[in-house]
Amino acid sequence: MQRITYRLRPISDEDIPQVTEIDHESFPGEWLFHSYTSYKQEIHNSSAHYIVACIRSGFGAKLAREDSREISWLNRLFDYRRAIPAGKEQSSLRTKEYIIGFAGLWAMLNEVHIIAIAVRNNYRRMGIGEGLLISTIEMASQLNANVITLEVRVSNEIAQALYKKYAFRIVSTRPKYYSDNGEDAVLMSTGDITSAPFQSCFQRLKEAHRQKCEAFATQRVGMKIG
Ligand SMILES: CC(C)(COP(=O)(O)OP(=O)(O)OC[C@H]1O[C@@H](n2cnc3c(N)ncnc32)[C@H](O)[C@@H]1OP(=O)(O)O)[C@@H](O)C(=O)NCCC(=O)NCCS
Repeated sequence: MQRITYRLRPISDEDIPQVTEIDHESFPGEWLFHSYTSYKQEIHNSSAHYIVACIRSGFGAKLAREDSREISWLNRLFDYRRAIPAGKEQSSLRTKEYIIGFAGLWAMLNEVHIIAIAVRNNYRRMGIGEGLLISTIEMASQLNANVITLEVRVSNEIAQALYKKYAFRIVSTRPKYYSDNGEDAVLMSTGDITSAPFQSCFQRLKEAHRQKCEAFATQRVGMKIG
């Protein structure tokens, strides 16, 4: 696995254009949302919680063009927070950030439903999707959910592998769920995420992921609840 330093934080309106790019790239048959306005409504919905994974913009643009083998080398140079004067962190980071992935969920009573997890093509297989899923599970716990569900295309074996790694299981099929090609969805669900077996498995996977991606814990998500 390549190493990359990124941070996870709640989405903001100015992220919408970049998140839209990732949406279009990741879900070519059926975008999540079709306009800036519909994205904006979605992220301001009180039941919705979206996070983004981001790196410093200059590096992002460069990396998007280059072989991702350079990422480990760049990481050794890369601690952009040190270069930002005190008090300017948020505004400076926001304008310079390059969004490389996002995740969204809806919270409904004791259930959290994952709307999407997506990572830019050039940044896949670096542990970012897994980092987003870990944060999503943590958000679900903070929202007092005890089950997490999602729909995914029956053909999307990569995403299913990610979810199965985190103890999601296929519980049913939704025939012809996707309108672009009539493909079925599988409904996947965790068991009780508050249970000791789930938490023990989750903590073990999270620690293994942290060890693989040295920089994963650089900054925790400051999430909104309620
Ligand atoms: C699914 C997706 C988010 C995974 O993101 P990613 O950053 O590449 O994934 P990671 O590097 O964190 O990999 C985590 C796990 O996912 C699975 N996985 C990821 N890529 C895989 C691949 N090419 N083949 C098989 N399994 C894969 C593995 O279980 C992997 O764990 P491992 O490293 O122990 O093998 C990414 O492929 C994507 O954005 N796809 C398009 C959007 C989508 O389909 N989203 C899911 C539906 S909501």
